[in-house]
Amino acid sequence: MKHWILGLAALMMIALPSQAVAALDGPKAKTIDELAAMFDASRCKGCHGEVYDQWSISHHARPQMGVHGGLKDTPLARAGATPWSPEHPSQATLDTFPCFKCHLPQALTHAEDSVAAEYAQALVDQDRAKIGKLQITCIVCHNNKAIIHRLQEGEPEPNVLYGTRNIPNHPDPVFTEIRQSPVMSEPLYCGQCHGVGVNLEFKNPVQCATIYGSYQHAYIPGGGTQSCQECHLYPKHNGVADHRMLPDWNDTELMSQRLAQSISLNMQAMGYEWLRGGGDRPSRLVVETKIDSSAGHRVPDG
Ligand code: HEC
Ligand code: HEC
Ligand code: HEC
Ligand code: HEC
Ligand code: HEC
Repeated sequence: MKHWILGLAALMMIALPSQAVAALDGPKAKTIDELAAMFDASRCKGCHGEVYDQWSISHHARPQMGVHGGLKDTPLARAGATPWSPEHPSQATLDTFPCFKCHLPQALTHAEDSVAAEYAQALVDQDRAKIGKLQITCIVCHNNKAIIHRLQEGEPEPNVLYGTRNIPNHPDPVFTEIRQSPVMSEPLYCGQCHGVGVNLEFKNPVQCATIYGSYQHAYIPGGGTQSCQECHLYPKHNGVADHRMLPDWNDTELMSQRLAQSISLNMQAMGYEWLRGGGDRPSRLVVETKIDSSAGHRVPDG
């Protein structure tokens, strides 16, 4: 636990005097920088170094960048390219990007339309440095998305983080308490963003991730027993869940190793020729293929 004492000392020297930490219950963010500051998790690194390093190389740390930096939302910002695209980036609103529902949920709860307009312009400019500031940070997962049944449990509180247990004194300048989240260890928690099927609530429905649907409708009824957390965050290392949450599609080598383990291909082939009377019929080949996957859902998704 020495590392967090060091972290606390570092915080007192750096973070506290500058008071640069933006409150979650303050006014909504008007710029990308304001939104990034509100959910900024860099100060968590001092005390949660291992988790931070794992998270920082995960897809959750780059949800707007696309695989290999392909800036996946670009067509939405280009006039005429999609039904959502505005005439000019300055006319973009939060509705221009239905993708925010899962790729950047904090924009819908904590940002003004001006953030969407700035984002659209950044896409047109292919400004990767700016777009990279938009992340699914620790605070998005441990505050904003940590309560689902809000009629029962209430809204997430601005000075509380939610985790696996109650910790009344949490030594962070903003999030001074940790409460046990009722859902963070449940598949439903991941299901908030990992999709059940087509998103019909939009004026133009979109479909992207559907893994939670596949998990619920195929894996569980087929006798599956494991949770998303068990396959993607455990075994815990030094008592801490693995926040890399693999796979990582940018790491092609690791990806093919993992897929070789989790997806098996069994192929049998038999060739034969027609006997007498076959005339000019060509030779035949019968191929029987069986593809089996050990994942708790369809692979690939989307
Ligand atoms: C000054 C050090 C310090 C800072 C800064 C800090 N934490 Fe912590 N955090 C701790 C300590 C200590 C614990 C309790 C760990 C223990 O008892 O094993 C803890 C516990 C937690 C837990 C609960 C873990 C569980 O068991 O469920 C979460 C979640 C958490 N921190 C997230 C964060 C996030 C996110 C940030 C940044 C916004 C942050 N912390 C900043 C020191 C810190
Ligand atoms: C229901 C939630 C949800 C919505 C809505 C959504 N996505 Fe996704 N998207 C995800 C998740 C989760 C992943 C990663 C996991 C997966 O692919 O199964 C993903 C992966 C992707 C990927 C592949 C990975 C990458 O970064 O290149 C692309 C491209 C993508 N989304 C584009 C979009 C676009 C564009 C929109 C809006 C038009 C959108 N998504 C809307 C949840 C969503
Ligand atoms: C706030 C929404 C959100 C939550 C909550 C969330 N994810 Fe994700 N997750 C995403 C998005 C968006 C991506 C894709 C980012 C990108 O485009 O690269 C992603 C990517 C991933 C990936 C990388 C593979 C891929 O195809 O991108 C894995 C694995 C993953 N998530 C597992 C989980 C698990 C397990 C949980 C629950 C413990 C979880 N996620 C919770 C939104 C979320
Ligand atoms: C995609 C969502 C997501 C993100 C992003 C995320 N966490 Fe977590 N975190 C979880 C989940 C889910 C668990 C609970 C795992 C379990 O079931 O034990 C967890 C557990 C923890 C724990 C408790 C220790 C443990 O593993 O049981 C700590 C501490 C923690 N997270 C800190 C952080 C910090 C710090 C960051 C940012 C660097 C972060 N988390 C980012 C989802 C997330
Ligand atoms: C029985 C274990 C198991 C369970 C349960 C499971 N997964 Fe997976 N998941 C895998 C395997 C295996 C892969 C294939 C890639 C790999 O090996 O990393 C995978 C791949 C993924 C991917 C990448 C798929 C793609 O095409 O981009 C995402 C995202 C993901 N899982 C999220 C989840 C979520 C969310 C849940 C819970 C609703 C879940 N997984 C439940 C084992 C599991």
